[in-house]
Amino acid sequence: MTARPRVGVAVVALLATAAAAAAVVRVSSRPPSLTDRRRALAERLYRHGLLPSGQPLRARGPTGELAGADAACARCHRPSGMGVVEGDRIIPPIAGRFLFQRRADTVAEVESRHPRGPDLAHALGRQRARVPYDRDRLVRAIRDGVDASGRSLDALMPRYALDDGDARLLIDYLAQLSAAPSAGVTPQTIDFATVVTPDVGAVERQAMLDVVSAFFDVHNAGRELERLRARRYAGATASSARAWRLHVWQLTGPPATWDAQLVEAVRRQPVFALVSGISTQTWDPVQRFCERRALPCWFPIVDLPPFAEGDFYSVYFSEGVRLEAAILARVLATQRPRRLLLVRGDDAAAAGAVQAALERLGRDGIVAEERVVPSFDRPALGGAFAGVGATDAVMLWLRARELPRLGDVPPPSGASLYLSATLAGGERAPLPPAWKAQARLIYPFELPELRRAAMARVRAWLQTRGLPLVDERVQADAYLACVLLAEKLDEMRDLVQRDELLERAEVGLAMRAPTAMYRRLSLGPGQRFASKGGYVARFAAPTSPALLGASDWIVP
Ligand code: HEC
Repeated sequence: MTARPRVGVAVVALLATAAAAAAVVRVSSRPPSLTDRRRALAERLYRHGLLPSGQPLRARGPTGELAGADAACARCHRPSGMGVVEGDRIIPPIAGRFLFQRRADTVAEVESRHPRGPDLAHALGRQRARVPYDRDRLVRAIRDGVDASGRSLDALMPRYALDDGDARLLIDYLAQLSAAPSAGVTPQTIDFATVVTPDVGAVERQAMLDVVSAFFDVHNAGRELERLRARRYAGATASSARAWRLHVWQLTGPPATWDAQLVEAVRRQPVFALVSGISTQTWDPVQRFCERRALPCWFPIVDLPPFAEGDFYSVYFSEGVRLEAAILARVLATQRPRRLLLVRGDDAAAAGAVQAALERLGRDGIVAEERVVPSFDRPALGGAFAGVGATDAVMLWLRARELPRLGDVPPPSGASLYLSATLAGGERAPLPPAWKAQARLIYPFELPELRRAAMARVRAWLQTRGLPLVDERVQADAYLACVLLAEKLDEMRDLVQRDELLERAEVGLAMRAPTAMYRRLSLGPGQRFASKGGYVARFAAPTSPALLGASDWIVP
């Protein structure tokens, strides 16, 4: 057993004066250390409500007993410990630097230049003055709901049953929580990586990389100005004054080897987050890696994002083909075809989509059947659509490159025909005219007509950077990922934290940013897919890429 570091006491002493407090946030300062083992136990307690013994954490809440994940501190105070404001409820920050000093109570104190700010929950809580906590008072707050000034805390704050050892562990954890910037951040720089999987075509790859690099260049050119502005704030380095550096992590070989490649890449170059990135096949190993390393994976362009309940670090614009499957199921629930054919080629994202659709449709009692067509020759296609009648429906999970081959066979006459916009390339889907006349696109984006204004901003930006429009979705998504990143980093200013980046995305995603390809972007706590709906659309004419809505906005 290692000796317990007396970090809490050290922090109290350090924070005794305002001048010393400023030193605590200086980015070079080290967080108080916990041994790895104690940190892992404390984190499990804080985030998941499991005691070191393996027993669930227990507490008395306003309406009864709470246990395990329901009682976990992170559920309310969030993984970063920075708290949150939900409507008129304020959950205060409980990261050590907030607790071990007096609560700020003047406006000037909660301004961004202050080492405790800027933080909304903290700022709004300032009407209730409070003296600094020490360890004993903190234990009292957690067990008995009495704050450092002796006032009773709101009943919403549970009263915990914690023995002395577990309370000590928790307080050591709070003392170091969000105390220093995350890895990949220095006073002058923030390092980012963008991940490209080997299946991605050269055009899409370059389209994404060009946008992200151009965005980084613009940011870096602008930071000189920011730095001058930031001088007004004593001791503060605005995060926008840091240079952003981009590292391209090009993965090679089969997905089973990607994790080792990522481990090696981050060993050579620690990064704060992954920004954008692109894959047309699986993204599973990347998400797993990010989760394990507590590394934000910020809006990559992927057709089939992994779904893993409870994962925190990866956020996506939408659920991709899985969202399409849900929209399809919704539409068919009223249309009630005799049966549904799910047609796909040899493609991992399409296979994932079919699986998602089968699960979803099965729940709704719709009979569906998968037809795999690896070789797109006439006999195979003829076979795939054999016997399809007017009361049937067909969903094509086909890639753009596969679509022209459909010209060899007539579309199944009378059947309802649907097409995945994500896989087919949206309105640019190279469908033969006879198919186009009959097909409906399942379209998980805002309709082109309605997103014109939002896209005008993106196009104008591309134009001033000298970037031709080569792939609207890829370029718009890459741009939007960068804009959202800049917005959130700007809000954080000095103390750039990974957990907080994601939490800020949860409470207000697109505050100032355009929505680009999407109708609305928002996340709530625990949500990881920002755009939640789509349309059924049809082509205006068999020879035109113009799209018309064939349904209202559908949120399945
Ligand atoms: C169900 C939501 C919820 C959970 C879970 C929760 N808290 Fe709280 N906590 C609150 C609320 C709300 C307040 C503010 C109460 C008030 O201002 O009267 C609060 C206040 C506090 C305070 C006082 C902060 C101050 O500045 O005086 C501390 C310390 C605290 N919580 C620690 C914890 C710890 C440690 C855990 C986990 C063991 C935890 N909380 C779990 C909701 C929660």
